[in-house]
Amino acid sequence: MRVNDEDVRLDDSYVMHTYARLPVEFVEGHGAVLVDACGNEYLDFLAGIGSVSLGHAHPALVSALQEQASKVWQVGNYYYEQHRGELARRISELLSATTDETGAATGSTGTVWKTFFANTGAEANEGAFKLARRWGERNLGGASGIVTARMSFHGRTLATLSATGQEVFHKSFGPLPSGFCSVPLNDYDALVATLDNPPEEMGAACAVLLECIQGEGGVWPADLEYLRKVRELCDERGLMLMVDEVQTGFFRTGAPFSYMRAGIEPDIVAMAKGIAGGFPTGAVAAREEVADLMVPGDHGSTFGGNPLAAAVGCACVKTMVDEDLGAHVREVGEHLAKRLAALPHVVEVRGAGLMRGAQLDAPIATPLVDEGIALAAEGERGLVLNHIGDSILRFLPPLVVTNEQVDQMADTLERLIIGLA
Ligand SMILES: Cc1ncc(COP(=O)(O)O)c(C=O)c1O
Repeated sequence: MRVNDEDVRLDDSYVMHTYARLPVEFVEGHGAVLVDACGNEYLDFLAGIGSVSLGHAHPALVSALQEQASKVWQVGNYYYEQHRGELARRISELLSATTDETGAATGSTGTVWKTFFANTGAEANEGAFKLARRWGERNLGGASGIVTARMSFHGRTLATLSATGQEVFHKSFGPLPSGFCSVPLNDYDALVATLDNPPEEMGAACAVLLECIQGEGGVWPADLEYLRKVRELCDERGLMLMVDEVQTGFFRTGAPFSYMRAGIEPDIVAMAKGIAGGFPTGAVAAREEVADLMVPGDHGSTFGGNPLAAAVGCACVKTMVDEDLGAHVREVGEHLAKRLAALPHVVEVRGAGLMRGAQLDAPIATPLVDEGIALAAEGERGLVLNHIGDSILRFLPPLVVTNEQVDQMADTLERLIIGLA
């Protein structure tokens, strides 16, 4: 047994069924290890869908949250607040870093970034859309279209669904906001053609929005050269280049943000997940010149940047930088990629750092995830894995995961694959 039966009954009876739950209930965790309701342990290779960046119950985050929780939780954005500005400064410093293609630091652009705090990744993208449209209104004769990529994922609000280049998420929920269209990722000519002849439902474009590695779509990287060419194209046409770093940001790929691996600087960056180690926080940042197009009354959020989120976010980003987490992610990420590539039925490993997708040559991804959980019932350490469709396994462990934990996971996964195939 890995669940408390009464908790399951209540959840099944009263919680909307928007997720198919696996039969396990986690009650605590430390680092990359989760513990279920019966005390069984699991190696966590999903990390709260990529958000528990510093691992479960990191002491610096626990103490920042506890300290702030005993002072003040929420006052609203009408007032100054102790940690909000410091978190924004830290984010600005991270966004202006430069790296090589592996994500290792090389310097800084010196750009000043200003941040708006939200609560989720979808909200971060919504803020990005408003910034881009304000830019179009002021500089491009009212152009408001946003071109995205096929197989992208930008969130579940209506506008972020419109931006998401996967029809499967659109059905039943129309009419969706207009002003978006998607083109195949890494197809530069298709992007140029769409900008030259925008479809009627989008109209003239003010921005391009990309994930540098598509996460929910199946871990599909944008070519670094493609990203460079898109940057140039946006410069030539005065368009905003927006990157959705909700999943790839905060050292997930080994760089502070994944766009840096292409040596480019975007205009607008959406982020969430890893900022505050799993405490719900989202943010959108823009170069100062773009950010300053927003004035009081243009955008807002009751909870965005609240004292709890800001305190935990500060502690999280400070810890990542002080401990040079990027170097650890690059090293363990390479090890993870090698171990995955050597597994039976794995035909390709995609991604960077600790964001990896293993393409399987058989439709066994779903049963592998189930079996990873079931191991715990047999008295073994379980595995928390994730699948995208039938034949892709996605790995987003806490960024503090060790080479030894990667080995343990890969050894167990190998056994599961052989047992299933
Ligand atoms: C790239 C990307 N953008 C946006 C989102 C939406 O974030 P949220 O679920 O916090 O709204 C996600 C979520 O997985 C994501 O991966």
